[in-house]
Amino acid sequence: MERTVVLITGCSSGIGWHLALRLASDPSRSFKVYATLRDLKAQGPLWEAARARGCHPDCLETLQLDVRDSDSVAVARSRVTEGRVDVLVCNAGRGLLGPLEAHAAGAVSSVLDVNVAGTVRTLQAFLPDMKRRRSGRVLVTGSMGGLMGLPFNAVYCASKFALEGLCESLAVLLPPFGIHVSLIECGPVRTAFQDKLEGGPGGALDGTDAQTRHLFSLYQRHCEQVFREAAQDPEEVTEVFLTALRAPRPALRYFSTERFLPLARLRLDDSSGCSYVAAMQRAVFADEPAEAGAGGPGGPEPGAPPAAPQ
Ligand SMILES: NC(=O)c1ccc[n+]([C@@H]2O[C@H](COP(=O)([O-])OP(=O)(O)OC[C@H]3O[C@@H](n4cnc5c(N)ncnc54)[C@H](OP(=O)(O)O)[C@@H]3O)[C@@H](O)[C@H]2O)c1
Repeated sequence: MERTVVLITGCSSGIGWHLALRLASDPSRSFKVYATLRDLKAQGPLWEAARARGCHPDCLETLQLDVRDSDSVAVARSRVTEGRVDVLVCNAGRGLLGPLEAHAAGAVSSVLDVNVAGTVRTLQAFLPDMKRRRSGRVLVTGSMGGLMGLPFNAVYCASKFALEGLCESLAVLLPPFGIHVSLIECGPVRTAFQDKLEGGPGGALDGTDAQTRHLFSLYQRHCEQVFREAAQDPEEVTEVFLTALRAPRPALRYFSTERFLPLARLRLDDSSGCSYVAAMQRAVFADEPAEAGAGGPGGPEPGAPPAAPQ
């Protein structure tokens, strides 16, 4: 039986790491997994976990692949000994947290480069062969942050919104080539994501005003609560990837959790955006005045112009 060749980006930790292990240790031994990492120095724990799970050595291989570098993507592609990739998983991604004005110049372009251009580069490298073979599956790790704006995540959301447009466009075009594109829309997942945020965890607050800092602390409190109540283990999320991978007619979107769907629906139901914005403001900044100039404990510094929460 010919094995399904899967190549996954971003396997040093988190979802990519767990998905690579899950597929490579599948009892059917029907997958050959190319787990790719930006830096192969980080591959040790993946191999240790693979050995602990009794993963057959022939089912897993690691390759260096930095999605910011098209040469690195091309070299990784050339090292796939089967000469084909049946399932491409574009998973590599990085977050950026904090007030927009506090992001370092390089941080914004770096996150867009990894999350958006990096996904495009990877697709550009693998799609032509899939088209020639008239067969292929593409799974992209999406986010609820790609379906709704979240305060203090503007650039990250912009990058994940971009993936929605990218994948939806390709999903319209590619079925006649036998290629199916699916987004795996994740809510909060317990991974190293928060520790690996561009510019470090916690978000930069340098030079921001007192009201923004106060709102940021409310946001952080809200996030902690959402994570406590709703964060999923990566093992749970990887099963959603498997559902998409095995579907005879894959859908464009799969959701790791239904918890945030009412908010996503609110965006669509009121196309003015007002209902969603109000609901999100209530959820995150519960007790804050919603209009500029209302003051309060997190109000503007004396002498500073009033600023409305975003
Ligand atoms: N965790 C969540 O709550 C959550 C929610 C929704 C969506 N997601 C998405 O899930 C995906 C995986 O994130 P995760 O939660 O598993 O976090 P993670 O543990 O931080 O994994 C992110 C992976 O992407 C890799 N990466 C970063 N820059 C790269 C580059 N230039 N080239 C190749 N790989 C690169 C990281 O490698 P290094 O270690 O080398 O940096 C790491 O392996 C991301 O796309 C993220 O946006 C996560």
